[in-house]
Amino acid sequence: MKGLILSGGKGTRLRPITYTSAKQLVPVANRPVLFRVLDAMVEAGITDIGIVVGDTAAVIEAAVGDGSAWGAKVTYIHQEAPLGLAHAVKISEHFLVNDRFVMVLGDNVIEGGITALVKQFTASNWNAQIVLKQVENPQQFGVAELQDGRITRLVEKPKHPPSDLAVVGIYMFDHHVFEAVRAIQPSWRGELEITDAIQYLIEQGYQVYPYIHEGWWIDTGKMEDMLEANRLVLETIEPRTDGIVDADSKVNGKVVIEKDAEIINSTVRGPAIIGERTRVVNAYIGPYTSIYHDCLIADCEIEHSIVMEDCRIEDIHHRIEDSLIGRNVEIVRSPVKPRAYKMVLGDHSKVGIL
Ligand code: DAU
Repeated sequence: MKGLILSGGKGTRLRPITYTSAKQLVPVANRPVLFRVLDAMVEAGITDIGIVVGDTAAVIEAAVGDGSAWGAKVTYIHQEAPLGLAHAVKISEHFLVNDRFVMVLGDNVIEGGITALVKQFTASNWNAQIVLKQVENPQQFGVAELQDGRITRLVEKPKHPPSDLAVVGIYMFDHHVFEAVRAIQPSWRGELEITDAIQYLIEQGYQVYPYIHEGWWIDTGKMEDMLEANRLVLETIEPRTDGIVDADSKVNGKVVIEKDAEIINSTVRGPAIIGERTRVVNAYIGPYTSIYHDCLIADCEIEHSIVMEDCRIEDIHHRIEDSLIGRNVEIVRSPVKPRAYKMVLGDHSKVGIL
């Protein structure tokens, strides 16, 4: 069985973070979402993995390399533009050939990994198996209709959903899917839709079965989803202290303090994670916060937020909450007169001021 991870796309909903990086590389509990997808594949015994990349190919290739960090072999497949999930499958045929494969969207985080569903598909002779999850807002996803345990219809983001079963970004196929992606036409949004390819398989009489996922699942396309995925993953961390916590500090609940991190005269209330070489001084880090490596967090309070590497946040008098802060960001007090907010913000930045 091979693996295919889709990491193309533009990530417009996560700007400005995605101007300089890929949305799949935003860390959730200090581990990029894409790394978590690779972890899940390798855990399921899949080590021959293709990654479909687009505009952000360079940063993804630099971060993942040849896959040896996972004990896997990674092949990059370049997609000229985000022309649809079925288009991504079409251009990957030379890599997948006749193997059965699992395809995972590179911006999805799923509780419990993919081992159980990969096992079930491997043991079957089905042509496709699609992971579904009961949701409250099915109109935002692909939606499935079931009959006698099989999938009988799939529709992409319908106004009137036929069920509450959303298509999670995990699909398993055999080689018949290549026939399907060649047969379909682009949709109204100009994309080759994987839902149309699956519908084709159903109509041709191929066996398409569901796998109902019971745990949580987050598609991290938007900032709020990132924070929610961060919250859910932090709930599951095993607390440990590999760095330094001085006698004046308090660490409560599930907290990971990475190697060479320092907590000085501060309170860290978990679930939270403090990255390597990060210094937290006279500060409060509240629940559901991930601070990445090499940051300085001093004389301020942060809660329910993701802070990426090399940030300096110092001497801020109101608590920072619900924030996604990119790399090398400085939020500091400005001593130079006139007293005023002074900002250098990239396009699409968002600042909420009290
Ligand atoms: O998240 C689940 C949903 O994912 C499903 O319910 C939908 O049926 C499915 O179409 C898909 O919808 P999205 O609108 O969320 O897909 P999105 O365009 O965000 O792309 C998902 C991932 O695939 C993202 O990591 C980028 C990557 N991608 C996307 C396209 C369109 C590619 O690598 N190439 C592409 O051409």
